[in-house]
Amino acid sequence: MDYYVIKGGKKLKGEVEISGAKNAALPIIVASLLADGETVLKNVPDLMDIRTMIRVIEYLGAETEFDIEKNTLRIRVNSIKNSEMPYELVKTMRASYYVMGPLLARLGEADVSLPGGCAIGERPVDIHLAGFEAMGAEIRLEHGYIKARAKDGLKPATFVMRQVSVGATANLMMGAVFSKGKTILENCAMEPDVVDLGNFLNKMGAKITGLGTERIVIEGVKKLKAITYSVIPDRIETGTYLLAGAITRGDVTVKNCIPEHVGALIDTLKYAGFNLDVKKDSIRVSNGKNLRGFMIKTLPYPGFPTDLQAPLMSLATTIPGISVIIETIFENRYTHVGELRRMGADITLEGNIAIVKGVKDLMSAPVMMSDLRAGAALVLAALAAQGKTEIRRIYHSDRGYEKLSEKLLSLGADIKREKGGTF
Ligand code: UD1
Repeated sequence: MDYYVIKGGKKLKGEVEISGAKNAALPIIVASLLADGETVLKNVPDLMDIRTMIRVIEYLGAETEFDIEKNTLRIRVNSIKNSEMPYELVKTMRASYYVMGPLLARLGEADVSLPGGCAIGERPVDIHLAGFEAMGAEIRLEHGYIKARAKDGLKPATFVMRQVSVGATANLMMGAVFSKGKTILENCAMEPDVVDLGNFLNKMGAKITGLGTERIVIEGVKKLKAITYSVIPDRIETGTYLLAGAITRGDVTVKNCIPEHVGALIDTLKYAGFNLDVKKDSIRVSNGKNLRGFMIKTLPYPGFPTDLQAPLMSLATTIPGISVIIETIFENRYTHVGELRRMGADITLEGNIAIVKGVKDLMSAPVMMSDLRAGAALVLAALAAQGKTEIRRIYHSDRGYEKLSEKLLSLGADIKREKGGTF
């Protein structure tokens, strides 16, 4: 299995282009099943999760062509061949659950394997299911599969989500596009990825209002048409490269991004004392004077994103004084802490609160990624650490960071992707 070898201590400098957003592309790829014809998606990142989602829609009957040089994905849909999503696909990626909305909307039935456990906590799908039930679907669990039936199609409904959920908001929005009447979703996720999916559906002919607010209204339409669409830039990748610039005390400009989407991170970096120069579609971060500890709490958008919690913690370990990080979205999202401690970090955990005391130097150690964002945190720590760090299980970061080592190399990092090793 491949692994990274990173020699730390180089100040990253230069410009880096941000790829398309994984978490926007995933539901958009699935939503293309809602229209017959050829959908052309641009700015689709070449990632493991995207390839899995391509397999998912191919399994359901779509034909695809992915030009990875141009990041363009062509999807042809004539008919949907089956309404079942097997365990093999759902277990590799929880987001395969997104097929439920389009399958119920088009066929009135969906059999989707229950996702198994997940490295970052329980992550149930009860909100998705309660929403489809409110829209008239009958749901039962049989042999590990959720079987959902809506013989005469999903009905318009008003549904209040008990908790903000990105996945449930996206899934229910896709499910409601053909309902005869008005569906009102309350307590919706306002994440840019959900807004991008909504914009895509509207361009296909859907009638969705309230995107980016807590209340989304979907007026059912008869049909959607296949279109060409460009996915928004990835805000978590944007944040990760800003943090790479900050942790190495370098000077990095992140290009082709939407600064508004990383507002909470920009505020945190400014508070910590870094210099930020924010333009229309680029952000430059450089080292400041008198760096100081900070406090953040992960929250639904526009709050601080849970997906940047681990990478931010790596930065905190290098900043003088105390930083406090509180994870409120997922339980068990601190698997990076043990690995960071092995690199010399001083972190105390009390429940979902991490108290981080900045150390003078992180030091290299053999470490292992436990999930995608924990993996990013280790790469950042290694970039700042004294000595050569080997990072294993990098298939986790392959799921969500396009050309990670190439992009870091272009910023002057000393990083090599090596083959081999037993784990
Ligand atoms: C999405 C993102 C993920 C991000 C997360 C939160 C994708 C593919 N993934 O995940 O990167 O970390 O949003 O911003 O876009 N919950 C329930 N029941 C449900 C659904 C969710 O209890 O039916 C809980 C989850 O366990 C979690 C919280 O709600 O505690 C938020 O989860 P959700 O927003 O649904 O995350 P995902 O869509 O899975």
